[in-house]
Amino acid sequence: MKVNFLTNLKNDTGTILFLCIKNEPLDRYLNNLNKKIKGYIDKAIKVSSMEYTNNSFADIIVPQGSNANRIILFGVDQEKISSEYDWGKLGSSVTSVLNSKKIKEVKLVVPNLSKNQIGEVNILYGMALNTYRFNKYFTDKDKKRMNFLNSVTMISKSANNIKKLWGRFNALKEGVFLTRNLVSEPSNNLTPSLLAKEASSLKKVGLKVNVLDEKKLKNLKMGALLGVAQGSANKPFVVTLEWNGNPKSKVTDFSFVGKGVTFDTGGISIKPSGGMEEMKYDMGGSAVVLGLMKSLALSKVKSNISAVVGLVENMPSGTAQRPGDVVKSMSGKTIEVINTDAEGRLVLADAVWYAQKKYKPKNLIDLATLTGAIIVSIGQEKAGMFSNSTNLSNLLEKVGKYVGEPVWNMPIDSSYEKDIKSDIADMKNVGSGRGAGSTAGAIFIKRFINNVNWIHLDIAGVTWAKGDKPLIPKGGTGFGVRLLEEMVLQYISDKR
Ligand code: BES
Ligand code: MN
Ligand code: ZN
Repeated sequence: MKVNFLTNLKNDTGTILFLCIKNEPLDRYLNNLNKKIKGYIDKAIKVSSMEYTNNSFADIIVPQGSNANRIILFGVDQEKISSEYDWGKLGSSVTSVLNSKKIKEVKLVVPNLSKNQIGEVNILYGMALNTYRFNKYFTDKDKKRMNFLNSVTMISKSANNIKKLWGRFNALKEGVFLTRNLVSEPSNNLTPSLLAKEASSLKKVGLKVNVLDEKKLKNLKMGALLGVAQGSANKPFVVTLEWNGNPKSKVTDFSFVGKGVTFDTGGISIKPSGGMEEMKYDMGGSAVVLGLMKSLALSKVKSNISAVVGLVENMPSGTAQRPGDVVKSMSGKTIEVINTDAEGRLVLADAVWYAQKKYKPKNLIDLATLTGAIIVSIGQEKAGMFSNSTNLSNLLEKVGKYVGEPVWNMPIDSSYEKDIKSDIADMKNVGSGRGAGSTAGAIFIKRFINNVNWIHLDIAGVTWAKGDKPLIPKGGTGFGVRLLEEMVLQYISDKR
């Protein structure tokens, strides 16, 4: 979606959409239209029953004798808006309206809506996010889920300021779209090596990218990650990415670590076939990390941030690891692999260890489609959050509500430690009972976390939308990109 900005509605051609605020006289919006149309609209409004619910509108086809073809009045109720997400939802429903009428280009006339124009820019963001489609595999054009809207001109007295803000939100959009593309891509076309290549291509936005192949992973003694990969013909990779946005400082503010299982069959502890195709998105954590790093680099965030993604395919075969095998992680700790389907935590054990060793970050956040149990616990609206830091988890909780990507604080105290006690190794990779499966995964990862503020986000429930949601056409969601970008910005502004 192309975005332009103007301070004045110069000529009234094409489709013009006015955002009209509840209880404000329409004159305020219509004055810059020619008299003839104005009179016509006044009348049309009186006979239609236009409401102000943030998704209702009046669609007016303009008769011969004027330049504009169509005028849409979209009702805004500011009392119903209390977060950036609420503005985004409004933008998203504007796109839905325009798409339902197959409109390709629109002039969007907005009055001053919010302090610092944060509302206006979130409307554009919401509009843009709702134009996303993953259509690359349709050869029949009619089968596509069409998006028509491809150009928006926002007309506002504060256009210059909105344009400045849009730089950041456009960067976010680019990151979210990358994440969605990767999550939606089938696993035959996104093996670990192809995903490593995608990560490498982020050099073009100014990130430093380093790809570690199997030989290097063996030298680093990443036995936990390599154990997962050994059943697949597709070789594993670990990729690191660095953004050095605060060159005066040597401190790494954040390391982001992502689970990148490009397909999860379960391995020898094989999954049932029904629904197994969903496991193409088991690299969702790494996709969020890549999208996030792209956004941060494009908007040139003034912070030093690094990332590590562990890329493997979990397959059963003659070379696959067996239930009962004991592997030695990079940390030196040994793990009894009771269930080869609890593979994400094995990948993360080595990835978080490596991130801490290499970057010594102040804060470390890992993202993983780790457990089906998190869906049983809290459904698909929120990510499960496990943390050793109240400060950091409080910040993320607050940010999550504000941007519409909520996280829910889950228990991870030491009472759960006994759950992963093994009879023959330092720990086992699953809990003993049937309960608290997501906490068992988190407490396992915690064994590899040293002195760092840490959050583990279990995104198994939020990575894929089975139906359309506000800002999210069904499919890969990109949940986490907006959330963590906002968190980084708030974190560095709190510090300064
Ligand atoms: N990738 C799955 C978790 C998952 C489930 C992601 C549903 C997205 C949607 C993970 O590797 C897994 O298989 N977890 C097991 C853990 C169990 C063996 C302890 C699970 O959830 O059943
Ligand atoms: Mn699994
Ligand atoms: Zn998995």
